[in-house]
Amino acid sequence: MLENLSRAYSTTRRFSEFLCEPLEIEDYVIQSMPDASPTRWHLAHTTWFFETFVLASSETNYRPINPHFQSLFNSYYNSVGEQFPRSRRGLLTRPTVAEVYEYRHEVDRRLLHCLEGLSGDEAERIGHVLELGIHHEQQHQELILTDLKYLYSCNPLWPVYRPSPPEDRRPRANPKQAAWSAHRSGIVEIGHRGEAFCYDNEQPRHNALLHAFEIQDRLVTVGEFMEFMRDGGYRRPDLWLSLGWSTKNEQGWSAPLYWVENDGLWSQFTLHGLRELNPHEPVCHVSYFEADAFARWSGSRLPTEQEWEHVAVSAQREPQPHPKETAHFHPRPLIDDGDRIAQLFGEVWQWTSSPYTPYPGYRAAMGALGEYNGKFMCNQYVLRGSSRATPSGHARPTYRNFFPPDARWQFSGFRLTRDVSAVS
Ligand SMILES: [Fe+2]
Repeated sequence: MLENLSRAYSTTRRFSEFLCEPLEIEDYVIQSMPDASPTRWHLAHTTWFFETFVLASSETNYRPINPHFQSLFNSYYNSVGEQFPRSRRGLLTRPTVAEVYEYRHEVDRRLLHCLEGLSGDEAERIGHVLELGIHHEQQHQELILTDLKYLYSCNPLWPVYRPSPPEDRRPRANPKQAAWSAHRSGIVEIGHRGEAFCYDNEQPRHNALLHAFEIQDRLVTVGEFMEFMRDGGYRRPDLWLSLGWSTKNEQGWSAPLYWVENDGLWSQFTLHGLRELNPHEPVCHVSYFEADAFARWSGSRLPTEQEWEHVAVSAQREPQPHPKETAHFHPRPLIDDGDRIAQLFGEVWQWTSSPYTPYPGYRAAMGALGEYNGKFMCNQYVLRGSSRATPSGHARPTYRNFFPPDARWQFSGFRLTRDVSAVS
């Protein structure tokens, strides 16, 4: 087990650094808004995780590589100690980027050495923490991209993170028309099963009652969202939740995040630069409130997370790996490939109508790592699937992502559902 994990560790650490290859030094250090963190902080924090939960826990009288890092790079673990405030991470001018890389490589060296000497119960214990740390770093790989995108979007020069892959520039013919896929009422099993890795919030596996519903076989597109806008979607309070309406007004929303209007023509900012809106690609960077308002406008609703999971498991469509050399860092239009349900994974995270709450029988782990998921089960909504920024191997049908309902800087879109009783 440790041999495989050791390889996965090295691959994951290298991939974080691959993501940072196109960056200028400023990109590592500037923080654009309170929810985002500088890239340098992500690189150091994921390293802090391995130092704190693997190295320090496997050695008595462990001496930290730099005692200041214990609070500077602690995100939210109260059991570990003080944390430097998230909203002020962009004020940290030290350690430098080079020092953060030194820290990473020193932890890598010590950790791989530490793994070589482990056996028995200790190897098993460390193996579980190491696996969690690998998946934690993968989550931060997506955050590196989403936080960088927000930072770049503040710059009217529209910086390009990486150019579009060549096939992305060719027009894609024959876009798929949406169709409804029907599912009967019944009791279904929800939650992770088997020995492969999952987060604690995906368990325990349990029964859920679903009422008959229909779900669209693809994501809502940019073109469809523009129809909603043309029909006054952002000006009609009857379409919005009360909190959504006040949030929209306070934050001045009139289109998805990163959409730019110029003389009546809309473009959008992407990690491949500013580009024309493509009506056939999935709409992205919308909040729960916008997804919910659109669904109400269209006479449908968002799926529950149980409906989404049941559909994904029934479809037997597994997430596909993204070859990093040809990575598209923006959702792509769907080519019609028949009747199968599409775009479950790898384009945008999909808002569900489900609040993020514990499954029946859920218990957070004891100790600091129990703070990983459970304490955030309040005032957030679940998103399912995965996005173009999600690293390979990080998605699965039972995965529960979660964000507050006004969050827009993640790659978030949605698909529609309706009750069968509502179908005329
Ligand atoms: Fe983290």
